[in-house]
Amino acid sequence: MCGIVGYIGNRVAIPVLLDGLHRLEYRGYDSAGMALIENGDIVIKKTKGKVSELQRMVKNLRSDARLGIAHTRWATHGEPSSRNAHPHTDSRGDLAIVHNGIIENYNALKTYLIDKGHSFKSETDTEVLVHLIEEHYNGSLLETLSQCLVEVQGTYGIALVSKKEPDRIFAARRGSPLLIGKGKGEYFVASDVSAILRYTNEIIYLEDGEIAELSKEDLSVKSASYEDVPKKVQQISWNLDMIEKDGHAHFMLKEIHEQTTSLQNAIRGRLNFEEGTARLDGLLKFMDELENAHRIIITACGTSWHAALIGEYLIEELAGIPVEVEYASEFRYRSPIINKNDIVFLISQSGETADTLGALRETKRKGGIVLGVCNVVGSTIARESDGGVYIHAGPEIGVASTKAFTSQVLVLSMIAIMLGRMKNLSLDRGRQIVRALAEVPQLVQKVLAGADTIVAIAEELYRSNNALYLGRGYNFPVALEGALKLKEISYVHAEGYPAAEMKHGPIALIDENMFTVVIATKDAIYDKILSNVAEIRARKGRILSVVNRGDKRIKELSDVVIEVPETLTFFSPIINVVPLQLLAYHVAVKRGCNVDQPRNLAKSVTVE
Ligand code: AGP
Repeated sequence: MCGIVGYIGNRVAIPVLLDGLHRLEYRGYDSAGMALIENGDIVIKKTKGKVSELQRMVKNLRSDARLGIAHTRWATHGEPSSRNAHPHTDSRGDLAIVHNGIIENYNALKTYLIDKGHSFKSETDTEVLVHLIEEHYNGSLLETLSQCLVEVQGTYGIALVSKKEPDRIFAARRGSPLLIGKGKGEYFVASDVSAILRYTNEIIYLEDGEIAELSKEDLSVKSASYEDVPKKVQQISWNLDMIEKDGHAHFMLKEIHEQTTSLQNAIRGRLNFEEGTARLDGLLKFMDELENAHRIIITACGTSWHAALIGEYLIEELAGIPVEVEYASEFRYRSPIINKNDIVFLISQSGETADTLGALRETKRKGGIVLGVCNVVGSTIARESDGGVYIHAGPEIGVASTKAFTSQVLVLSMIAIMLGRMKNLSLDRGRQIVRALAEVPQLVQKVLAGADTIVAIAEELYRSNNALYLGRGYNFPVALEGALKLKEISYVHAEGYPAAEMKHGPIALIDENMFTVVIATKDAIYDKILSNVAEIRARKGRILSVVNRGDKRIKELSDVVIEVPETLTFFSPIINVVPLQLLAYHVAVKRGCNVDQPRNLAKSVTVE
């Protein structure tokens, strides 16, 4: 998705802006640009393609500008081109704007502005904003911006510079993340903290409807009704090392290998071995509501939705509370029924996913309690939820989610244990489960220690154009997640199915060219999955099985096996998904794909 970075201060702006744009690359984009205020004038540079292209364009600029805004664009209205790249300017070239989000009424605004004599240079929705500001300018940009935004429908994160007030940056947000970084005699504006983390970890989050005016020394923020809003500076704990590759070929590989640590961080201080339960401070305020919940709804998108499915199994089995899992994109628009004793959990790594945020707001409109399971501290979903739990996975830069998924499942496991102990789960069983959960990071470490063996296995799969992923029970969502990982980074078509569903259709696909990945670790329905594997074998399908160490029966039926350590069935997804992440990674590398920035994908999907 689009990214914004802006700077005002004593540093030369170009390197700050380029560094910020490079750090936003992981979000996915197709063009890049910047606007600088140079001796009171606006200098615009923009191009289709990569930030490195923009870097080449500005190389010989010899700019001394100390103020600028920059953007990476992910096309929504108008093809990727330098004409459609941001910043966009008004008719006179007095203003330059960068924008994330979508202006829904841009057609109506454009017609109005064309009638007023404005001519447009791009096909974007964004350009109407800058013409609208030009049209209504009343001598104060802050005031004009505030008045113009009333006319705008849709979502935006905006940064604006002007020749009229050349020592200022203006910023505004509604439905698209935007934050301000505070330095000494300098301010930054960004859509994502990673863009400015190199310079500051003092962050001011803008809320929806707020607009800000930044100078070198000052920040003033107004509400939608143009009243002053006092803002708090928050220190964030992420540092630069956490958003760098640290010797790994890709962020995704680094993040896969970080999982022992990220899981330990999710557990730290939260397990109570004596009481056989978990303590999750962000839920303490809602203990009564949770205990009396008649139903839990979990809503999310993509990988987070897969984690939610495992959460459903966990909560129903350990706590006996009925759970429904729903895609956030469906939930928000289908008038969901939220009863008095329902609790809605939202799962989102980024905390900015538009559909999940939509589900959150729909729940709140209906008076429901919303609890978030998020990774990014201070993200919109984290802030707008009534309570919740951070997964503490650290920054996840690779577009394909890996460590966030395992930490989400781990946090859901703790929620299920905590709820179980509030209900019928016995002390003994609670203690046993908590002890097993505490061992999970070390078991993941054992899988990672054998990571190299997966390179050879990827050799088997990378020429295939199709793959089927099968799992049952707790490992059915793992099959979905394994298939999603493969398709999103290697572009191999892959489908996940509950193994028993195979005979209801997908079995028609099985022949000697079809590659099937079966998650077949020991659990109560192991014998059933054994039969499913035999059915594939009988049709000469190629089989890769994920099995527990020492398993002979599935091994005999499979072409290749990946052995993983045994744990309680509840926690097997956290372990079993790791080799599937590695498999997808190595297949993608062998196919020459851009692992960290797969085509058409964005890290956080902030548009519908
Ligand atoms: C995961 O690999 C995906 N890129 C994607 O499905 C992602 O999980 C989804 O967009 C939800 O994101 P969120 O967790 O940040 O809300």
